Amino acid sequence: MKFEQTLLDFLMRHQEKHNRTFHFLVLMDAIVSAAKRIELYYRTGALKDNLGLAGSTNVQGEEVMKMDDIAHEIVLHYLKSTERVIQVVSEEVEEIIDVNKGGGRYFVYFDPLDGSSNVAHGLPVGFMFGIAKKNLDGSMQGSEDYHLRAGNEYIAAGMFVIPTGMFTLALRDAGCWRFHMDETSTFVKPVRMLLPDVEKKWELSYNAGNTETFGKNIQKWIAENQSKYVFRYLGALAGDFHRLLANGGMFMYPAIVNHPDPKKNRPQGKLRLMYEANVVAFMCREAGGDALDESGTPILDIKPKTHHQRTALYVGSKKLIDSVQKALKA
Ligand code: AHG
Ligand code: MN
Ligand code: MN
Repeated sequence: MKFEQTLLDFLMRHQEKHNRTFHFLVLMDAIVSAAKRIELYYRTGALKDNLGLAGSTNVQGEEVMKMDDIAHEIVLHYLKSTERVIQVVSEEVEEIIDVNKGGGRYFVYFDPLDGSSNVAHGLPVGFMFGIAKKNLDGSMQGSEDYHLRAGNEYIAAGMFVIPTGMFTLALRDAGCWRFHMDETSTFVKPVRMLLPDVEKKWELSYNAGNTETFGKNIQKWIAENQSKYVFRYLGALAGDFHRLLANGGMFMYPAIVNHPDPKKNRPQGKLRLMYEANVVAFMCREAGGDALDESGTPILDIKPKTHHQRTALYVGSKKLIDSVQKALKA
C-alpha cells in the first residue's frame, strides 16, 4: 500500500527541523478542522438553506444564516478551543476579538468565506488566513497596536478552496505548499508551489468590467500587455489565486479612481490588507513572486493602521509585477 505524507506529519517535521514547539500544530489542526466543517456546510448548504441571505427566514420560519456568518462562527470556535490564540481579526466582525483573555501565542487574521458572490451558485469560495506570533521575549507587548502586523511579520498564511479539497499553505522562508484532501478527509501530499517561468500559460485575472475606472497608467499598461496573456476571472480571490499559483501571471484589483459616479471610487482599492492581500502576497513571495499596492509599495511592507484596512493589489509573477511597478511610478 502507498501512503501519502499527511499535512500534520509535514508540519511536525518542519517544526522539529527548525527547533520549534508543536503549538503551531495545534493551531493548524484547528484551522483544518474549521475548513472541513465549512466545506461540509457548503456542500450541503443549498439543501439546508444555508446559502441564503442573513436576515431571511426559511420555510420553517427559522432564521437563515448567511454562509459568511456560519463560516465565521466555525473558525472562531476552533481557534478558541486551541487556547493558543490571543486575538483574531475576522472580516465578519468590526472589532478585534479577544480570544484567550490575553493568553496564548498567536494572532490570526481571516476571511472565513471569500468570494461570497459565488455562494448562491455553489461555485468555489475560499477560507483565507494569516498568522502572526506574539514576541515571546515580551517586547512590544505594551504597545497598543502590536496586533497590527505587517505581512512580512506573518509566520504563515494559507487558503482552502472550498469545496474542492485543496489547501495551500506558505511558511515563512520555508516555501509555499499545496495539499489535497484524500478519501479519509485528511490533507496529504505536499507539493512545493513555484510560479512557472514559462510565459505560455501566464494569465491575467482582474474584473475587466472595471477597466475604465482604473488609473490611466494601469489602463495603458492593460492595453499594451493584455493580449499576450490568457484572461481568467472567477471573482473569488482564493480561487483566482489558486489557479494563478500553478499557471503564473498576475491577479490585480487596482484602485478605482475614474468611476463615472465619483462616490463609487475606491482609491484605497477593495481588498482587505490583513486577511486577503497579505495572505496571497505571503504565499506568492514563498512561491517566488511578488505583490504591490497602487503606490508600488510591496504589500508585505505595509504597516496597517487599522485592522480592516483596504488596499489595491497586484500579485503574481515577478516580471509582470516589475512591469506594473514601472507603469504605476511613471
Ligand atoms: P468577500 O466575498 O470576502 O467579500 O471577497 C470578495 C472579493 C474577492 O474574493 C474577489 O476577488 C473580489 O471581491 C471580487 O470583486 P468584484 O466582484 O468587484 O470583481
Ligand atoms: Mn474576501
Ligand atoms: Mn469574506
